[in-house]
Amino acid sequence: MYLTKDQEKMLSGEYGWAAAKALELIVRVGGAMGAEELVEVKHAHVSGVSYTNVGDHGLEFLSDFYAKGGRARVYTTINPGCVDYSGLSNIIDNDFAARQMLVDNILQSMGFKPVHTCIPHYHRPPLENEHLAWGESSAVIYANSVFGARTNREGGPVALSASITGYTYKAGLHIESNRVARVKVEVPAISRGVPPGALGLWIGDHIREIPYITGVKNLDVSGVKSLLASMAASGNHALAVLNGITPRNTYRVEIEDKVVVEDKALEEYLGDDISSGDRVLGYVGCPHLHPVELLKVVELLRKYGPPRKGKLMITVPREYAITFQSILYELRVRGVDVAVGTCPIVSRLKEKFDVVLTNSGKALFYMKKIHGVKARIVGVEEVVKCVCRGFKS
Ligand code: F3S
Repeated sequence: MYLTKDQEKMLSGEYGWAAAKALELIVRVGGAMGAEELVEVKHAHVSGVSYTNVGDHGLEFLSDFYAKGGRARVYTTINPGCVDYSGLSNIIDNDFAARQMLVDNILQSMGFKPVHTCIPHYHRPPLENEHLAWGESSAVIYANSVFGARTNREGGPVALSASITGYTYKAGLHIESNRVARVKVEVPAISRGVPPGALGLWIGDHIREIPYITGVKNLDVSGVKSLLASMAASGNHALAVLNGITPRNTYRVEIEDKVVVEDKALEEYLGDDISSGDRVLGYVGCPHLHPVELLKVVELLRKYGPPRKGKLMITVPREYAITFQSILYELRVRGVDVAVGTCPIVSRLKEKFDVVLTNSGKALFYMKKIHGVKARIVGVEEVVKCVCRGFKS
């Protein structure tokens, strides 16, 4: 692999042990991916930073890495932790708070921004064709498909190494010729109100190539986020070309196959049925709520609330505890459980529920697996209406 003078210096240890080790990892992974050179990244986003994920072993590794000089060279953000940073949620279990703080302290000392969110684009929207090294599949697919940025789906160690070195390997979606949509996916159902999360799960399950999806240009931010995150959860997708949304000069289209997704095909992706007597958790915020979605939830609560037929939880970036303090206060007064900087998939729950009602295909996918509950996808309004007014009204 070709290395610049700066990269050779780093690899030989001139910038310290940690940078050399981190670059070694990137070169090794890049070699396996067929990369011929490295690229500079502008933003690294590190996932897998919850204590439930890192554990004591990871904590030891991070602390050693920090002690040996591991410091961020580029703007770096981190994914949600396993605790609610407001300490006000009655649903998220904060038993691991002390351990999570240890992880957070090290990462912050390394220069990582403690944003604790899976929507890092809220803090720094990427530019078209800008190279990134992001973990968190839902953020990766959003960066590539909505902003036209270039990132592969990186695991924690590679994203961390990219942060420490400022480089990643040039392969996969960093290369223009790999950003080619080959399957056209038409979805008449979206215009009839089928939740985008259900469509995303279907596409993730059935389409292997980069899809070119038509009929979605009127989706709002919530719909786009849910569609993409769900595809990335049920499949291995990191880029979908959304007609009318994905920036034109960031992909190519060479259609070889066409699929029309019928309403009937999506039915099984809507999830389980709800029975009367089920303890229901309504959940929106996977991925974390964008400010526009947050305001929408407030509006719906004013219309339907308070939640009397089930609990309602939302999850938001850690920073909202300050920037949207009065809105979060209003939501809490209206009976919403607001969890900050976390989500029910990376944390443990204090309460038992029979079913989760959510707008998110990704939440449906993981809540069933991790918490063993039934789950059903409906639109955001339906989630709020059901837990406030009941399932038949
Ligand atoms: Fe974010 Fe948790 Fe969903 S990290 S994408 S809210 S699984």
